[in-house]
Amino acid sequence: MSTAETRVLFVCLGNICRSPTAQGVFAQFVDHSDLSHRIAVDSCGTADWHTGKAPDERAIAAAAERNYDLSALRARHITSEDFNRFDYILAMDESNLRTLVELCPADYHGHLSLLLDFYPGAGMSEVPDPYYGAADGFARVLDLIEGASAGLLRAISGQGRADAHPPQ
Ligand code: 4NP
Repeated sequence: MSTAETRVLFVCLGNICRSPTAQGVFAQFVDHSDLSHRIAVDSCGTADWHTGKAPDERAIAAAAERNYDLSALRARHITSEDFNRFDYILAMDESNLRTLVELCPADYHGHLSLLLDFYPGAGMSEVPDPYYGAADGFARVLDLIEGASAGLLRAISGQGRADAHPPQ
């Protein structure tokens, strides 16, 4: 684990579509803000079905169209140790948030919430699961994650409110 001051964990169900996309996008936002030494980024799934696998090829392709490289990421399952390691644990939807709340120790002092709490302008609270959905689902996931990443970065770096808008 890095010595970064703030550690962020994105969580979805399989860790092959939404949360690796969030990891790749947010890591690039952090890097472009020269904050990689201060903010560490990871992702995991509440299910273990895809442990060790690369992200879904549709997620890799949609991200690559916007110059995010997800190809080196590998899926892993959430562990109880994650609550000791991460300051922000951000769920893609209500179902995964419920699982995290069940696993969360009573003395966890970090921030556990939905990712889209950092993107009030999205007009929705969940990042829809694109796995069985329409072809444009992965681009929609990227739109939501880019908007939330801007708000999250502002919140962590103390530059104002979390009601971000996506970069133009
Ligand atoms: P994710 O999407 O939670 O965004 O990674 C899914 C990936 C796999 C499955 C469901 C959702 N699955 O049923 O295998």
